[in-house]
Amino acid sequence: MTEPTTGGTPATTPAQDVAAPADGSVAQWTDRYTHAVMDTFGPPQRVLVRGEGAYVWDADGKRYLDLLAGIAVNALGHAHPTLTAAISAQLGTLGHVSNFFGTPTQIALAERLLALAEAPEGSRVFFTNSGTEANEAAFKMTRRTGRTRVLALQGGFHGRTMGALALTSKAAYREPFEPLPGGVEFVAFDDVAALEEAFSPAAVAERGEVAALVVEPVQGEAGVRGLSPGYLVAARDLTARHGALLVLDEVQTGVGRTGSWFAYQQPEVGGGIVPDVVTLAKGLGGGFPVGAVIAYGERAATLLGRGQHGTTFGGNPVAAAAALATLGVIERDGLLDNVRTVGALLRERIAGAGNPLVAGVRGRGLLLAVQLARPVAADVARAALDAGLVVNAVAPDAIRLAPPLVLTPEQARDVVAFFATVRVPGSEDATGAPATDPTTPATPTTRSS
Ligand SMILES: Cc1ncc(COP(=O)(O)O)c(C=O)c1O
Repeated sequence: MTEPTTGGTPATTPAQDVAAPADGSVAQWTDRYTHAVMDTFGPPQRVLVRGEGAYVWDADGKRYLDLLAGIAVNALGHAHPTLTAAISAQLGTLGHVSNFFGTPTQIALAERLLALAEAPEGSRVFFTNSGTEANEAAFKMTRRTGRTRVLALQGGFHGRTMGALALTSKAAYREPFEPLPGGVEFVAFDDVAALEEAFSPAAVAERGEVAALVVEPVQGEAGVRGLSPGYLVAARDLTARHGALLVLDEVQTGVGRTGSWFAYQQPEVGGGIVPDVVTLAKGLGGGFPVGAVIAYGERAATLLGRGQHGTTFGGNPVAAAAALATLGVIERDGLLDNVRTVGALLRERIAGAGNPLVAGVRGRGLLLAVQLARPVAADVARAALDAGLVVNAVAPDAIRLAPPLVLTPEQARDVVAFFATVRVPGSEDATGAPATDPTTPATPTTRSS
């Protein structure tokens, strides 16, 4: 690749003859966005034109440290040479085939995921393009148990397609689209007694046997909320005793994000359990869209028979090559260790920096939430952007950090420095004067993917 221009736009390449948009400023692109792109996300915070490692640049040439990584996606950062080369090589060799055919990258990726999952004999993988599709497939698997009662957790987020939405508890996401697929019951978050009640003889007599329990090991969109140690062990015990599937949604927590390949593999999270189904997406392709359903053991792996589920793009050889390269780099470069080290640094130093606006930091590895003392996350996210940091106001009073797994300790120190000093409207300095202009309008940035 040639060096980018100062505006952040890459210099001419052959593809630009047919595909590249003209230059423009952030303001110009934002205006064009609002006239051309459906308004489901609100106006873009910035228009970004390139990235490298943990940094991205906007159309005005301003650089940002990317602490969101496309919402827990860009595991290797931006424009990673190994990932770029793997995608280019596969696209230049065989870009797509239908699922009437297999490809070596697809088969090798399935084997790799089964190995990383330490999945038992008879386990199998189904490929998708996104997290919601992975959960959609898992939901369809639950229906093949012959039961229709599915438990999900309050606060859980599993995607926006109708099945995954039925598993998602937030009323504002669900209600405009009802009726959703039926049979889903929400149980209180992290409450073993509530789970036991859902499996009790009275509940079964009234509402039927449970087909499956669907859980995120750490709830991401709900504000990075972890389950207590022991919850998943209890969940595994109850589901096993009742012949129900335990489905772990690791779309956000999987692929190294929390410091292990899958979050449930950490003893403090999973306590050594083996789930029936794990869903993946986000970080799996390092930025290339790919998702997967891992079905553990023969029973789960054969719930969907021939013709019962399908996808044109799922298992695409380019997506599989991207995932193989992403997993390969995570292993080769020791990124799981990096996630644990840099995650601990961020957690401890942000919490210990002494800013009264910061009430604490929670999460695992590089999936963290900075708990604020007041509901000013939108203001903090905007101040971060102005200071050259991309963060996410995941709740009115919490900032989510989900940076690339390649974030360095030096870059983490810049993040700590920001949280040590950030002031927003309403913050008082020693003289009692507001630190920034209190009339600045608050644009809400709290939004889930
Ligand atoms: C836990 C979880 N499951 C599913 C999804 C949906 O994934 P996607 O946006 O790729 O459809 C998300 C997205 O945020 C998620 O965090």
